[in-house]
Amino acid sequence: MHTMHRDPQAKRGPETTGAVIHWTPQHDIFVRLMGLGVDGSNSRMVVEMAKIKPGDKVLDVGCGTGDLTLTAKKYAGASGSAHGIDASPEGIAIARKKAERSGDGAVFDVGLIEKLAYPDATFDVVISRLVIHHLPDELKRQGFKEIYRVLKPGGLFFLVDFKPPSNPVLAHVFFALSHHRMTHSNVWGLAPMLTETGFVAVASGPTRSALLAFVSGKKPTALVLT
Ligand SMILES: C[S@@+](CC[C@H](N)C(=O)[O-])C[C@H]1O[C@@H](n2cnc3c(N)ncnc32)[C@H](O)[C@@H]1O
Repeated sequence: MHTMHRDPQAKRGPETTGAVIHWTPQHDIFVRLMGLGVDGSNSRMVVEMAKIKPGDKVLDVGCGTGDLTLTAKKYAGASGSAHGIDASPEGIAIARKKAERSGDGAVFDVGLIEKLAYPDATFDVVISRLVIHHLPDELKRQGFKEIYRVLKPGGLFFLVDFKPPSNPVLAHVFFALSHHRMTHSNVWGLAPMLTETGFVAVASGPTRSALLAFVSGKKPTALVLT
């Protein structure tokens, strides 16, 4: 029997200027084999760097097929929660199957970084891995504002994304040869954007993964008068 999709947009997912991945199980396996999730160690690294602890309410923005969200839920425990959103209905469908299998209770929904469907001050931690380079600059700014809005005062935003090689010659070759979006978005340019959004204690630096850097910032606990 065929399933009728009266609204083709509902099948494709919400409209965004971000680069959406229409995930298939094969694509998911390929990405995991590239080193992001074969043994879960990259997800554990991110969750540990973000200091996710029992009781935390966590949001994973651009969660793809959910590996990082599921790891976050393990660390947040039964008293905490982990929600994952992604623009890709296909990614969310795979993530929901993984959540059913794991029984950990992570929640997955189709959604956009630029229009988060949560009330103000909902989350203790917002995490995001390899998503921001998928977004044009204006969308990054909108997304950061939304993340700031849904964080509780004192809450942490922690992202990891590709970093260009530190060797200037390699970096030049990398930028010149590749047409992948990652080469057009420099992770080191994100810290000033977080500061513009209102985040404080903004930090950035390497991770133990040679390919990834982190950028983080906190929502102030009290109103900052400028
Ligand atoms: C490289 S994948 C990373 C997936 C996941 N974070 C991980 O580390 O496995 C980037 C994800 O960003 C999603 N994405 C792109 N634009 C988006 C938007 N505007 N809002 C939410 N997700 C978006 C894509 O659909 C894709 O699943």
